[in-house]
Amino acid sequence: MSDNPTDDKPVERTEGDVNLSDERRQWQDAHLDDATRALLDEDARYFLHQSLSTPCLNALSGAEGAELIDTQGRRYLDFHGNSAHQVGYGHPAVIEAVIEQLRTLPFSPRRYTNRVAVDLARKLAELSPGRLNKVLFAPGGTSAIGMALKLARVATGRFKTVSWWDSFHGASLDAISIGGEALFRRGVGPLLPGAIHVPPPSSYRSSVTGNAPSPMESAEYVDYVMRHEGDVAAFIAEPIRCTTVEAPPVEYWRRIREICDEHGALLIFDEIPIGLGRTGYMFACERFGVTPDILCLGKGLGGGVFPMAAMLAREDLDVAGHAALGHYTHEKSPVGAAAALATIHVIEREGLLARSMELGDRLTTGLREISNDISLIGDVRAFGALVGVELVTDRTTKDPASAAAEKVLYECLSRGLSFKVSGGNVLTLAPPLTLTGEELERSLGILRAALEAAAEQ
Ligand SMILES: Cc1ncc(COP(=O)(O)O)c(C=O)c1O
Repeated sequence: MSDNPTDDKPVERTEGDVNLSDERRQWQDAHLDDATRALLDEDARYFLHQSLSTPCLNALSGAEGAELIDTQGRRYLDFHGNSAHQVGYGHPAVIEAVIEQLRTLPFSPRRYTNRVAVDLARKLAELSPGRLNKVLFAPGGTSAIGMALKLARVATGRFKTVSWWDSFHGASLDAISIGGEALFRRGVGPLLPGAIHVPPPSSYRSSVTGNAPSPMESAEYVDYVMRHEGDVAAFIAEPIRCTTVEAPPVEYWRRIREICDEHGALLIFDEIPIGLGRTGYMFACERFGVTPDILCLGKGLGGGVFPMAAMLAREDLDVAGHAALGHYTHEKSPVGAAAALATIHVIEREGLLARSMELGDRLTTGLREISNDISLIGDVRAFGALVGVELVTDRTTKDPASAAAEKVLYECLSRGLSFKVSGGNVLTLAPPLTLTGEELERSLGILRAALEAAAEQ
């Protein structure tokens, strides 16, 4: 049990930090002027309130490069960005491409294709591993997941899925059915039938609590479930869990690939927050050398400007010509495609895959140095420029230091660094891949000061 009374509050493993905490209110009391408060009040007056969103923390007036600018002119290095800002905010090449597209072909109604949408489809097919050569676009990651689930049903003639407890694949009813977070599932059922959940492979903490199977035991559990059900359409997961920055070993994914093949189930990878360079690879699954049958992209695909997502499928899964998998109004958005193509070109031209690795290495080294002085840090893990810092009250018991994580977040915001807290006690650091050396060192200084302040409490 923690020394800090607020650590005893039940902690839900959620996507992000909650929007109704004492720490948040205190931060707002200390930082917001009357005009910002009035805007927040108006926001709360007109938007439906929902968890992790409205009421909001603060209001923005700008975003450029790696920084957010609030209505009072304060700047924050943004290591959150909803995982949509691999190329930073307002990258000139992306903005230019979008403006040019708006001037020529701003929209492409159904029945028509257009050059830039086809160019993007070809580029994704060329870049993707294996035979993931067919695509559909969607106006958001959740919709891409929905298309993947439908395609799996049509292609296999089955409807059951296997996915992980604690996972997140979007907030719509189909996505929360396969997702495993209570916050999203509670009180809104009934959910999709046939959505079977298995415990996720063991994590940093479960190695001491012993309440989760080892990765290979977890894979065999998937085999067991598929064998007994006999008619599972697909296994779906993030190859690297973005929020808590955890991944099972290569052998796990190789075994899952075998199991899916053995039982005639498709393997679907959700790379919506982690594809396109975040983990140092264009596609996160390349790290494991395992190619799924369907892969979903989103978020950063739109260059931090446009809502844009994609489902990439094995070319022989082009079997649903009679069905409507997506049928989205913005299905072949020329503006979205222009933003996405420009984004991919920036990643290639500016060497952002290598930069992602460099940023991750430097952040990890810096954070491990800080952890020599601050025992609050239980673990630092990184996959390219996706870095997780797990805060614990005790390194042996690994009890989560959730109140401290919240304190670190608001201390960092006060000093000009934004990120998200995941799973209650993990600082999730996802900087733009265009981050400069100076900005990186600045962020480490801010993290050290904030962690020291939290450790003193
Ligand atoms: C792993 C994962 N899948 C799917 C989604 C849903 O994407 P979107 O919010 O664009 O619908 C998210 C969004 O956070 C995500 O993190």
